Amino acid sequence: MEVKNAIEARRSIRAYTERELTEEEIRGILNAGILAPSACNMQSWHFYAVTGEARARFSGVCADWVRTAPLVIIVCIDGNGIEARFGERGRKFPYQDTAFAIENMLLYATERGLGGCIIGAYNDAACRAAFPEIDAAHRVVALLPIGEPAEHPEPRGRKPLSDVVTFVS
Ligand SMILES: Cc1cc2nc3c(=O)[nH]c(=O)nc-3n(C[C@H](O)[C@H](O)[C@H](O)COP(=O)(O)O)c2cc1C
Repeated sequence: MEVKNAIEARRSIRAYTERELTEEEIRGILNAGILAPSACNMQSWHFYAVTGEARARFSGVCADWVRTAPLVIIVCIDGNGIEARFGERGRKFPYQDTAFAIENMLLYATERGLGGCIIGAYNDAACRAAFPEIDAAHRVVALLPIGEPAEHPEPRGRKPLSDVVTFVS
């Protein structure tokens, strides 16, 4: 699949078949994430790849459907000092880094016939309590369930370019 086609085919997928992902698929998704660009290549991210019975721990953390995905990635900023290095300007970098990594993972998943959904609605304290594996220096910025789609939603509409772009020449 061409990148253009993956960009157009990607949807937020919120229902998954029961098929487990192979280790190759999981590693492929995560590898696509770490190939994303990052500020100064500091790669200010950390991913907790949650599979199997550990997914039950998302109960009370986020919407119930999230843990029906065979893979739920807890996407974190790693607090590796990028903000200290760049000061105020650097505050946004780790958020940008992790956003690019997420999109890479979603496009890779789409190309492999899989689907996922960025989850911003989660309880941070409950997530930390449920997953003591999360390093104290890591900040959770999103959850990313991924699996084989059990739904095929129509594309959601977008504002026209004329609403969101100002051409300057
Ligand atoms: C930062 C961010 C947070 C989001 N949080 C949620 C969420 O908590 N729950 C959810 O179901 N979808 C969430 N979404 C998915 C959006 O609803 C979805 O991307 C949007 O409606 C466009 O649909 P599409 O992704 O299928 O093109 C989030 C997306 C982004 C970028």
